[in-house]
Amino acid sequence: MSGSSESASTEPVAHPELFDKVVNLTKRRGFVYPSAEIYGGFRSTYDYGPIGVLLLRNVKDAWWRSMVQLREDVVGLDASILSPPQVWEASGHLANFTDPLVDCTNCNTRWRLDKLEDPEVCPNCGARGKFTEPRQFNLMFKTQAGPVEDAAAIAYLRPETAQGMFINFKNVIDTTRVRPPFGIAQVGKSFRNEITPGNFVFRTREFEQMEMEFFVPPDDAQQWYEYWCKERYQWYLDHGMPEQLLRLRPHDDDELSHYSSGTSDVEFLFPWGWDELEGIANRGNYDLTQHANHSGEKLEWYDQAANERWIPHVIEPAAGATRTAMAFLMAAYDEEEVKGETRVVLRLHHRIAPYKVAVLPLSKKVELSDPARALAQQLRGSFMTDYDETQSIGRRYRRQDELGTPYCITFDFDSLEDHAVTVRERDSMEQERIAIAEVEAYLRERMA
Ligand code: GAP
Repeated sequence: MSGSSESASTEPVAHPELFDKVVNLTKRRGFVYPSAEIYGGFRSTYDYGPIGVLLLRNVKDAWWRSMVQLREDVVGLDASILSPPQVWEASGHLANFTDPLVDCTNCNTRWRLDKLEDPEVCPNCGARGKFTEPRQFNLMFKTQAGPVEDAAAIAYLRPETAQGMFINFKNVIDTTRVRPPFGIAQVGKSFRNEITPGNFVFRTREFEQMEMEFFVPPDDAQQWYEYWCKERYQWYLDHGMPEQLLRLRPHDDDELSHYSSGTSDVEFLFPWGWDELEGIANRGNYDLTQHANHSGEKLEWYDQAANERWIPHVIEPAAGATRTAMAFLMAAYDEEEVKGETRVVLRLHHRIAPYKVAVLPLSKKVELSDPARALAQQLRGSFMTDYDETQSIGRRYRRQDELGTPYCITFDFDSLEDHAVTVRERDSMEQERIAIAEVEAYLRERMA
């Protein structure tokens, strides 16, 4: 079993039982904890533990590497989370970022009307026709900046990172060498007061996004939209997502925002079915036009060669970091029989795996633990390295398999004589004897 798999008819099928297995593993091994657990938890919020923080960071770093580091035409940004109402007035969020809410007058539960299977029937108590009239509920978290509670102090926690890029468009073109086509990328927290958070970290009120706004000449927008759909789909494959669990789904016309001439979602086959990881949208010149009109600033490009001014169009690949981390876990989870026992292993791509290598001395005796620790310390300069000398070697391998660590290095008594160690590869469990002096190069070659 690996993630969700293909049936005999080649249609991939979701595995509902995988959900609990992965959630249990994440708790058992320190990936994710319910937030404020000692106080009974807090409303679908989660804390990333010592292993989860590495996983999440690796997802964000892998995105940043391919979207910023490896590209000449994309620069980064880290905008503030707190923002004034004017930004959200211009973006349309104050008026439109709403979900329709209904209350069941029979059992006093609250529902999102557009997510109900039958808009007349309460899924909790089964009452028919007992819902209140729908009212629009704005998903933005409102707060107050400073000590005075008046209208001038109202601020919002951003519900997306994207607006940071639009409102800094002028700053970026005035202070750097970029020219269209170019992108501004950002990774960071966003907040939405979701009515129905759920499915573990899939939908939460506090989450992380990885977004890039790519500014292009208006005539080239369609071509760049197609380019970014392909690039983003390929990114997931390049980081180990199996093709049968991934699809690119163009939106139907009735799903499109009024300003978008095209949107496609990268979807993953979660245990509950296909669901969104990322949206790639052709947003036209909507955002820059809105902010130009509301701020009075000119947000346009002057093409000197052609002596023309135009408002760039925007292609936006918008992904969720926390949601993607969860999808990587679901896709990587595997169970297999080894010598009559079940081995649980996360077959994570090495760039996503929390630890890259673990050093495991065969015994706790100082004659082994001292040089093993020294080797671990040396490897830490290049790789996230775990060190573990507790329990039997078999149990330590199992633990590293559950963390998805690609390589384990066993330091044994022979190592003191032959100056070599045993390197075990996670997926094949094959072992090789490698000179200690060669270990770092050996790992580097395999995890380039
Ligand atoms: N700027 C466009 C934008 O924000 P979106 O589809 O609303 O588009 C982009 O969000 C991505 O952010 C989604 O594909 C998803 O991965 C992630 N995301 C959105 N809401 C989320 C939530 N409540 N919890 C976790 N991730 C979320």
